[in-house]
Amino acid sequence: MPDIMTPFGLAIDLETGDMVAATNRLVRRASDMRGYYADAEALDRLIQEQDDPLHYEVFELPVPPENGQLMYCISKLQPGQVGQEFFMTKGHYHSVSATAEIYLCLAGRGYMVMKTAEGKWATEEMMRGRMVYVPPHWAHRSVNTDANETLVSFCVYPGDAGHNYGDIEREGLGKRVFQRGGDIVLE
Ligand code: PA5
Ligand code: NI
Repeated sequence: MPDIMTPFGLAIDLETGDMVAATNRLVRRASDMRGYYADAEALDRLIQEQDDPLHYEVFELPVPPENGQLMYCISKLQPGQVGQEFFMTKGHYHSVSATAEIYLCLAGRGYMVMKTAEGKWATEEMMRGRMVYVPPHWAHRSVNTDANETLVSFCVYPGDAGHNYGDIEREGLGKRVFQRGGDIVLE
């Protein structure tokens, strides 16, 4: 008989995403994003001129990374641009590719950009109160298109899903999101 886990509850501020009980805080700064943006020189300038600014944070109170568990987190992606490209997360497939994920956007505005290994791609708008379902086998990346607000989401995915960053680092997500003359453009 396996050990039976004890149920628990915790508070999440639905305006700010603050999850006070979180024990893990993953921080990605601009310098962690080398190789991800179209304009590498603009990223270098940002790192130098703005003292390697915060890019995004992920907060977790982890559960065992096992089949049957549900991992959950709060993701906070800062507003900003690298050249004309909006700030984004690295993006990943799950290591167990046949696992889905749910994102519930709590604040801000942006897009979830998704693709399959076969080259299909899709986007979904993210805004407060909107949920995005990322099906199994779809790589996913969030992009903050707001000028000022942090893009805050609550994410839930299978405990054993894992993160595979290498493929997206090599392939990209198929589409990038730019600001071109006041318009938000996917290219
Ligand atoms: O599991 C997820 O998809 C999210 O929690 C992401 O990990 C989070 O948004 C950060 O993005 P990434 O893992 O691509 O750096
Ligand atoms: Ni994921």
